[in-house]
Amino acid sequence: MTASVRVTAPAKINLHLEVLGLRDDGFHELAMVMQTIDLVDVLTCENTSDGLIHLSCDVEDLSTGHDNLIVRAAECLRSRSGFNELGAAIHLTKRIPIGAGLAGGSSNGAAALVALNTLWGLGHSRKSLESMSAELGSDMPFCIAGGTQLCFGRGEVLEACPSSVAPMGVVLVKDPSVSVSTPWAYGECKRQRGDSYLSGESAFEQRRQRLRYADWLRPLRSDLPPPLQNDLQMVVAPQIPSVRTALELLSSLPGQLRVAMSGSGPSCFALFVDRDAADRALDHQRREFVQAGFEVWTCSLQAEGVKLAL
Ligand code: C5P
Repeated sequence: MTASVRVTAPAKINLHLEVLGLRDDGFHELAMVMQTIDLVDVLTCENTSDGLIHLSCDVEDLSTGHDNLIVRAAECLRSRSGFNELGAAIHLTKRIPIGAGLAGGSSNGAAALVALNTLWGLGHSRKSLESMSAELGSDMPFCIAGGTQLCFGRGEVLEACPSSVAPMGVVLVKDPSVSVSTPWAYGECKRQRGDSYLSGESAFEQRRQRLRYADWLRPLRSDLPPPLQNDLQMVVAPQIPSVRTALELLSSLPGQLRVAMSGSGPSCFALFVDRDAADRALDHQRREFVQAGFEVWTCSLQAEGVKLAL
């Protein structure tokens, strides 16, 4: 067994989020393209022999109890191992905003699986960790795999995109005083749009095929930027003023290619031809975002998900 392990847990943005219909398990059937970005949390895990999973974090407003996916992932991995005496002291350095639609919580849980698999010497493959993680959260397999992926089903069925990662840049914004609950956003979607949902596997498969062969994905590139469809945006934006403000401010940035909300929001982003263009645009208008109460970052697209930082 190793004494300590450090992993990075990156955020994601949605380049496409299409709500197809309802599934028998009550979840939504989705067709998405998710993209890892280089805004990362860091998990440090140390072996303990007391049989306890102890989580600490550098921010106060995050639960470190059983509702945290890190703790749930650690307990799931340990119970599957059959070694109940395994313990770990985990410290989370949080940079990804919470409740933002950036899969920060899912990425942390995914990072805990990868880190503890190494720390405890369990020998699970990356693929087996991905399938284990799907039971804990729909976005977690993507967070382990990362890069640019088509995500179907609840979001847990992955198909790697034919493209390598494009050098595009991102300006990302989030109002720190607002968070959106994912169940609420999907519930609103069902309430407002449920009557027009597709039904049946063949209708779902047609939409998957349309996405698989979309011109903008073959490969991802800045001269044919993704249209950035997000079906949750049209139900969340009318009810959350900060999303509308974020989208307006991002649309006014010089050189932006496209603007959208990520996941169930409220974070929003603009794409740029490269990271320099994103930096320049933000330098130009940072004051307007700060005055409107937003936190703001520039990022690059990243080719990998959770990574061991040796
Ligand atoms: O899987 P995860 O825990 O991330 O999902 C959180 C909630 O979001 C679910 O309980 C459900 O209400 C909603 N959801 C959904 N359809 C999906 C993914 C999530 O309705 N495909």
